[in-house]
Order: sequence, then structure tokens, then C-alpha cells
Amino acid sequence: MGKDVIIACDFASGAQCLAFLDQFENEKPFVKIGMELFYAEGPAIIREIKARGHKIFLDLKLHDIPNTVRKSMAVLSGLNVDICNLHAAGTVAMMKAALEGLTREDGTRPLLIAVTQLTSTDQATMENDLWIHAPIDQVVLHYAENAKAAGLDGVVCSPLEAGKVHAACGSGFLTVTPGVRFADGEVGDQKRVTTPAQAKALGSDYIVVGRPITAAADPVAAYRRCASEFVD
Ligand code: C5P
Repeated sequence: MGKDVIIACDFASGAQCLAFLDQFENEKPFVKIGMELFYAEGPAIIREIKARGHKIFLDLKLHDIPNTVRKSMAVLSGLNVDICNLHAAGTVAMMKAALEGLTREDGTRPLLIAVTQLTSTDQATMENDLWIHAPIDQVVLHYAENAKAAGLDGVVCSPLEAGKVHAACGSGFLTVTPGVRFADGEVGDQKRVTTPAQAKALGSDYIVVGRPITAAADPVAAYRRCASEFVD
């Protein structure tokens, strides 16, 4: 898959999400569905969006014992989504089990990417709460290398980390990057942001964009602006 814009569909209900997607008549954006919508609507919303022709990144961030993650990933694989994810903190063994579960009988599977450290975690909380005593950028790279060693396809990270991840894990190892804002837009609660054009220059493979598109007066125009800065 090439570079693409993934819209974070952070809606509270399936009806809201589908009404949002109805606005796109000439394109079928790649969408990210997270825990809120999945827990509200269940697998039916995934089937509905898939049937409409969208690619889906199912952002459920699994983290449990390897056996449970293997079996859960096998269920998610049956939904025919395009990207799934998990926490690299679950260990290399858990990530390998996830890949086994995700792989279908014919050998095909969705892409699998890992969360390294959440962007809500900073150096102080990592040290005080998680009891990890190393610089956070080294921890992020170590977790990315673990994901690569387990056979995963990439990581979720900041565009600002994409270059280091590619240098450590190879240019084919995917960097899927949230924290994207237009140069003239609201930053909101995102702390370290880049524009779509900067994310492209930094080597991001996919940008995940939520509110700059979903809360825009004209979401279709905002999506096209993202795509023209990032993809074209
Ligand atoms: O609205 P906004 O563009 O900030 O949405 C970004 C999306 O990416 C949200 O769904 C958010 O949960 C997700 N995300 C993030 N930072 C991470 C991982 C996921 O912003 N490190």
C-alpha cells in the first residue's frame, strides 16, 4: 500500500459515523475505527463500512497474554479489516502470537502495527508509573525493533519519530502517524504536531487525521486538502 490519509472516525454512534461518510461521494477514504465506536456498535459497523468500500484500520490496541491475543486476532481477521494493532509492551511473544492469529488459512492477513508508547505518556509518567528508566525516544525505538523482530509491519508513532524508526527498522517498516494539523488550524489537545506536508517530508507512510477533517465546516474539502499535501 502506498502513502494515504486515514480519517480517525471518532464518533459515538454508527449513525453519526455513517452520516459523516455519506458526505464522500467521489472518494472512499481509508478510515480508522477505534474502541468507542466498536464497543458501541460491535462488528456490524465494521461490516457496514467495509461493504461501502472503505479500507479500515481497526484501532483496538490489544494487550493480553499471547493465547488470548492469538484467538482475538483470529476473530478480527475474519472482519476483513486492512490494519489491526496492539501494544508492543505486550512482549515479542504476544506480538508473534497475534500474527499467527491474524494469518488466515490462505496465508493472507491484515497489516499489524504496534503502539510503542502512547503520546499521553511522557518521560515522567513512564518513569514514575511504568518504572521504565530510559530516555523515552530510546524506549520507543526499542519497542519498534521488538515489533520488527516479531514480524510486524510497522508502528504508530509521531511523524517526528518516523525518520528514526525507518533508520532503525528499514524504510519498508510502516510509520502510521497521528498528531497532524493544518498550518492554519486548531491544535487542540495534540502537543507535538506537524502539517500533512511536513509529515510527508519526514517520511510518514500514513497520516491519521481526525478533528481537522471530522470537525471541519467542509470535511470533504479538508480531506482533499490533506491528501493534496500528503499524497500528491
Ligand atoms: O482528532 P485528531 O486528529 O487529534 O485524532 C487523532 C487520532 O489518532 C485519534 O483517534 C487518537 O486517538 C489517535 N492517536 C493519537 N496519538 C497516538 C495514537 C493514536 O492521536 N499516539
